[in-house]
Amino acid sequence: MNHNENRYLTVALGKGRLAKSAMELFTKIGIPCEEMNDKTTRKLIFVNEDARIRFFLAKGPDVPTYVEYGAADIGIVGEDTILEENRNIYEVLDLGFGKCRMCVCGPESAREKLDSQELIRVATKYPRIAKDYFYEKKNKTVEIIKLNGSIELAPIVGLSEVIVDIVETGSTLKENGLAVLEEVVPLSARVVVNPVSMRMENMRINDLIRDLKNAL
Ligand code: PRP
Repeated sequence: MNHNENRYLTVALGKGRLAKSAMELFTKIGIPCEEMNDKTTRKLIFVNEDARIRFFLAKGPDVPTYVEYGAADIGIVGEDTILEENRNIYEVLDLGFGKCRMCVCGPESAREKLDSQELIRVATKYPRIAKDYFYEKKNKTVEIIKLNGSIELAPIVGLSEVIVDIVETGSTLKENGLAVLEEVVPLSARVVVNPVSMRMENMRINDLIRDLKNAL
């Protein structure tokens, strides 16, 4: 049963590259949103009236929050953010773009410290992922230091021995004399859905997911 044909489905997009690739995909399945390509607009919400879908852009880490509370039915966000935010949401589709890896990185000299008894410091934008990796997978106690960006600085200036961060091309590491020491988890963009929306708008959401999947 279609719960309410007139209701708009709301899609939250993480700002930046993922949003751009996501909108290309929505365009491909016949749900374009021309307005969003206008670089000068300060609008926050974009509507496709034909499909009765509205899109909004949010900071990546806020996307799972909007989806958990049902302010967005659907979200498109990186797996890194999904793991870090640990929200009550369904992850329904791997979009395959935005591919990168969450890694433990540092100078080569830090490699041996990762398997020693030494207490090391780990700088990261992802304290939950880092903690889970070191405490649950490696059974190693570490001191985690939360940073908000330019994480590669930490081992260079002596804030930490290693970092847990996203590696895409590897050029940031290389240009700063750092290397991947261990891989934590591979990452890519995912579609997430609010559990109540999934029940109430089951047909519409499943059709949408099917179309997105077929367009990949
Ligand atoms: C990300 C990540 C690395 C870099 C990896 O940072 O934190 O620094 O990209 O990409 P690469 O392997 O292709 O060099 P981002 O540019 O998002 O900014 P941030 O440092 O503010 O987190």
